[in-house]
Order: sequence, then structure tokens, then C-alpha cells
Amino acid sequence: MSLFPESFISPEVATQLAPEYILRSLKASDYHHNVLNVLKDLTTVGDISEAKFIEQCEFMHSRQGEYFMIVIEKISTGNVVAVGTLLVERKFIHECGLVGHIEDIAVAKSEQGKSLGKKIIAALDFIGQKSGCYKNILDCSPYNEQFYVKCGYSNVGFEMTKRF
Ligand code: ACO
Repeated sequence: MSLFPESFISPEVATQLAPEYILRSLKASDYHHNVLNVLKDLTTVGDISEAKFIEQCEFMHSRQGEYFMIVIEKISTGNVVAVGTLLVERKFIHECGLVGHIEDIAVAKSEQGKSLGKKIIAALDFIGQKSGCYKNILDCSPYNEQFYVKCGYSNVGFEMTKRF
């Protein structure tokens, strides 16, 4: 089960990836393919059972248009090596505008520095634009500020933003 339709996967980013990788939606079966370990490079994940993981996937799947968790899989191992999430928020301001919140970006340590992080952000930008968001925003530590600047984001004080 994929969380969202294939049409939300950027064809441009997918073709820019080296042939050993594939960009796709998170699937419930990724529980067995390293996704939680990749997230552990970001922060504490805790002990998550397969049943709980599937329950979360089913909830996200039930909220079509709201949760977009993408992964980059290394085809040779079948393992997830990079992850990122876009959460689409519905507002009243800006004529019931939509804002994309970029969350939980992580690349496996062994795969960092190969532009996979940049591809994850570009893929989430595509989803934000396709969903009709007028901007994507994120929070990050000062340590990662320059990474996001290289992805086209700018520091507006308390959050990073890109206007569409
Ligand atoms: N500081 C400055 N520049 C950086 C940094 C950094 N911390 N990280 C990457 N860059 C630069 C790279 O040198 C590269 O520059 P170039 O285009 O001139 O060559 C560019 O940014 C793109 O780098 P990528 O190779 O795409 O980065 P990578 O795949 O290593 O992913 C990431 C970066 C996601 C920050 C990774 O290091 C990681 O997973 N870190 C641990 C988890 C983490 O901190 N995640 C971000 C949390 S913030 C959030 O989730 C909203």
C-alpha cells in the first residue's frame, strides 16, 4: 500500500536520481526495509511494533491530500536510504490557502553527501506545488541552515520558507 498516488512523485526528480535509486511513496512494507533506522539519524524513534507502524500508515493513507511521506530506496538492497514528509495544512487566511510543512528529513549516514537530501526536498517542493500550497515551510537547526539555503529556502527569522 502506497500512501498517495504516483502522480505526486516528481518526474523531474525521479529522472535526476542515479539509476541505483528509486523515489517513491512510503509503503507499509518499509517497516522491514530500514526506514526507522534512517529516522534514527535524525532523532529518537523509540520501539515501534510492525502493527503500530501499519496503523500509522493506514491513518496517513486515509487522509488523502494531507500526509505525503516519501522515500528513496537503494534498489540493490531494497532498503530505504532517505526519507522526508510534507504535511499539507488547510488555512482560513489567504483565502483558505494551503501551506506545506516539511518534516523529518533524514538521509542514512552512509548515503549522505550524494545529493539525496536535496532530491528529497525538491520532491516535497513538487508535491507542495501540485497540492496548491502557496509556500512550503520548515524548522531546522542553525547547523542545517546552509543545506536548506542550497535547496532554495531562505531564513525569515523563525522558519525557512519558499513562496510559490
Ligand atoms: N551544512 C552546510 N551544507 C550542507 C549541510 C550542512 N549541515 N548538509 C549538506 N550540505 C550541503 C552539501 O554540501 C551540498 O552542497 P553542494 O550542492 O554545494 O554540493 C548540499 O548541501 C546538498 O547536500 P546533500 O548531499 O543533498 O545532503 P545530504 O544528502 O547529506 O542530506 C541532511 C542533508 C538531510 C541534512 C543529512 O545530512 C541528514 O540526514 N542529517 C541528519 C538528520 C538531519 O539533521 N535532518 C534535517 C532535520 S531538519 C528537518 O527535518 C526539517
